[in-house]
Amino acid sequence: MTSSMKPIRIGLLGLGTVGAGVFHVLARNGEEIRRRAGRAIEIAAVHRRDLAAARAIVGSKARIDADAMAIVHDPSIEIVVELIGGTDVARRLVLAAIAAGKHVVTANKALLAVHGTEIFEAARSRGVMVAFEAAVAGGVPIIKALREGLSANRIAWVAGIINGTTNFILSEMRSKGSDFGTVLKEAQRLGYAEADPTFDIEGIDAAHKLTIMSAIAFGVPVQFAKATIEGISALQAADIRYAEQLGYRIKLLGITKRRDDLEASTPGVHDRTGGIELRVHPTLVPATRLIANVEGAMNAVVVNGDAVGTTLYYGKGAGAEPTASAVVADLIDVTRLHTADPDHRVPHLAFQPGSLADTPILPIEQVVTAFYLRLRVADEKGVLASLTRILADNDISIDAILQRESAEGENQTDLIILTHDTVEGRMRQAIAQMQALKTVLAPIVRIRKEELS
Ligand code: NDP
Ligand code: HSE
Repeated sequence: MTSSMKPIRIGLLGLGTVGAGVFHVLARNGEEIRRRAGRAIEIAAVHRRDLAAARAIVGSKARIDADAMAIVHDPSIEIVVELIGGTDVARRLVLAAIAAGKHVVTANKALLAVHGTEIFEAARSRGVMVAFEAAVAGGVPIIKALREGLSANRIAWVAGIINGTTNFILSEMRSKGSDFGTVLKEAQRLGYAEADPTFDIEGIDAAHKLTIMSAIAFGVPVQFAKATIEGISALQAADIRYAEQLGYRIKLLGITKRRDDLEASTPGVHDRTGGIELRVHPTLVPATRLIANVEGAMNAVVVNGDAVGTTLYYGKGAGAEPTASAVVADLIDVTRLHTADPDHRVPHLAFQPGSLADTPILPIEQVVTAFYLRLRVADEKGVLASLTRILADNDISIDAILQRESAEGENQTDLIILTHDTVEGRMRQAIAQMQALKTVLAPIVRIRKEELS
């Protein structure tokens, strides 16, 4: 490839936060990018429905088309960049682009987590690339790291802060005591939040990203429907404070773990040789861990591999230009590789398509974690003993207990219990038994806890 080659022509579908970021980065760094890619990357056409808004961004530098399909079928366009979002329109456009023999670059984690198997198979059979670095952790090149940089390793686990909006909310609540709704509005104003912010708040966006990382880390198909997902909407300020007093921070983590150690006594596992945990939930992490100190909209992903040990990837996980950084890096990769033999390109999910494993995703009852429990209890003799007996009967061992003094005139108090690792099914049983005690006065709060050591 020589830099005298004519520019590669791009069709940009979607010109919102990320689309506009891509336009500006390509315009600003075009010459440097040409020297890296071997030829210039030119945005030939853009699509958004609001034509005046599109014109205000691109001026006369690209054709603006209200019909996205017309761009997909334009024979002069070699790469289609999908930055619309969602799973309906985007799926149709991406599949049409692939069928038309175009390479695709997308930042759409929802699309790939839900329809990845169909899309990657279509791309494989048509011999085109689908690149998606921006879909996970925005500007942090975690897909490249997992798929290429760590490919010598048997990955043991991946854990990450992979949603900027919720990390921003948790950070502001903890450090400034800010109100949930006000911080969410600010995240929306800054362009971090999804079109439907419940995707952020309820952990769905993080689960989309985790599903993609899990597939790449363990060589299994994308299986979003099997992820366990809990968001931050039920999290209470009191638990953030108690966690702090115990030396922990609460983060919304996505965790995927290979488990070869399933206990034969766990219901339903006797005939299994292994499984994969795939879960997003608020998590207590020791305040001394680097990941516990990732603040604002920053993302961080920790990967543990058998050869390399633990590695950490950190950076901006959302916003116009950080995300554009990843989209444009994919454009450069596709430009460099589009003439290569399709069989010699890096497989979409890191493992050769015929070598994906059918390792099951474990149901949450079989997941192993430690727990933080907060109980509102009657302040009377024997309460603690009855609770610890229930935990012992369920084979759950206690790591620490924090008992608040009752407020004056009250005869009830908060009791915090930290446990060691246990199987979730066992913890659920113990919580049900403790909840049934007359001395437990309110619903028990339980938050999972990970040492990430
Ligand atoms: P925006 O909502 O800001 O932009 C979407 C763009 O698509 C707009 O220009 C919209 O303009 C256009 N559009 C065209 N057709 C449709 C349609 N049928 N429905 C909705 N919009 C349409 O989204 P973002 O730029 O924030 O996100 C784009 C993608 O990137 C999503 O998949 C998102 O998850 C992902 N992403 C976003 C990040 C971020 O920080 N924002 C980070 C990483 C990934 P118009 O309404 O005029 O048509
Ligand atoms: N809404 C997402 C977030 C955007 O807050 O992380 C980046 O994927």
